Amino acid sequence: MELEEFVTSLESLAILAEQAFSDAKFHEDFEAARVQFVGARSGQIKAIQKELGSVPSESRPEAGKKLNQVKNRIQAALDAAQIRVSSGASPKPSGPILDPTLPGTRRHLGRIHPITQTIEHLKEIMGRLGFAVVEGPEVEDTWHNFIALNIPEDHPARDPLDNFYLSVAGKTSVDVNADEARLLRSQTSTVQIRVMGSNPPPVRIISLGRVYRPDPADATHFPMFHQMEGLWIDHGVTMAQLKSVLRMFATSYLGGDVTIRFRPSFFPFTEPSVEADFLWNDQWIEFGGAGMVDPNVLKAVGYDPESVTGFAFGLGVERLCMRRHGVLDIRDLYRNDLRFLHQF
Ligand code: DAH
Repeated sequence: MELEEFVTSLESLAILAEQAFSDAKFHEDFEAARVQFVGARSGQIKAIQKELGSVPSESRPEAGKKLNQVKNRIQAALDAAQIRVSSGASPKPSGPILDPTLPGTRRHLGRIHPITQTIEHLKEIMGRLGFAVVEGPEVEDTWHNFIALNIPEDHPARDPLDNFYLSVAGKTSVDVNADEARLLRSQTSTVQIRVMGSNPPPVRIISLGRVYRPDPADATHFPMFHQMEGLWIDHGVTMAQLKSVLRMFATSYLGGDVTIRFRPSFFPFTEPSVEADFLWNDQWIEFGGAGMVDPNVLKAVGYDPESVTGFAFGLGVERLCMRRHGVLDIRDLYRNDLRFLHQF
């Protein structure tokens, strides 16, 4: 065999062997490559070594040198493969490597909206005072939102500019005084009428829910907000009971002994009517409206004003929530900003 031919077959053997060793993933692949190339009896190196004798004698030293170089290359590939296979590492790592020492991914839990939390709290306090919770619809007719509440047709509270009247199917203009007129309720006092309209006295209820007024949003106004309505009708209910219920409620909600003050006011559905304020942290804070239910309202629902009396009140839920938690802008409650909401 000529020197050139001998060197060429050595070269290709080296390439094949290196490939086989670097491809070996498991011990079995490694063993097969080892037997194939460097096996003592039938290994391919052994076979080519036997050809050395057929190389012309003047080229033999050169051929022997090449043979040793190739043997060393193959040995190096074998050593590398052996280390890798026995350490269990795969030759080409695929996919992300798990590092159990890294911190985990924190899951963010949602929470109840502050207004919903406040509503639950108010229900709980009033429940302890014996008030049952009832609900009413947000789309109302004028009977429940105005007429039965003693609010006459020409009253400014019924102005289309101060209410969200809904258009009636098939009509292009809305007659806000028609029986069929519908609006988003502007107050929860509607529920007083619904409850008394379908239950004989006595009633002792609260109702919490959304009300709507087309006020531009600012720090203290929002076109949608929540009210808590209260109503207690029975034989001989007096204003003293109204005051003590509100005082117990305020003491419970705000903590500490809260002083209540009544200022004379006017609402069409109560007589007398008051604005209730409470003293908290040395400040008088407006609480909402209240009063003794007007005999006209009792008559409208079929009650006998000579036989039963009662009180009613209506409080702003946002205002209560904001006072208790020190929120200064009502819009913060409705921006859906998690940095704000996460604080509750
Ligand atoms: N409905 C009134 C309002 O939205 C609040 C109110 C005042 C409710 C007096 C009452 C009440 O039940 O007796 O401004």
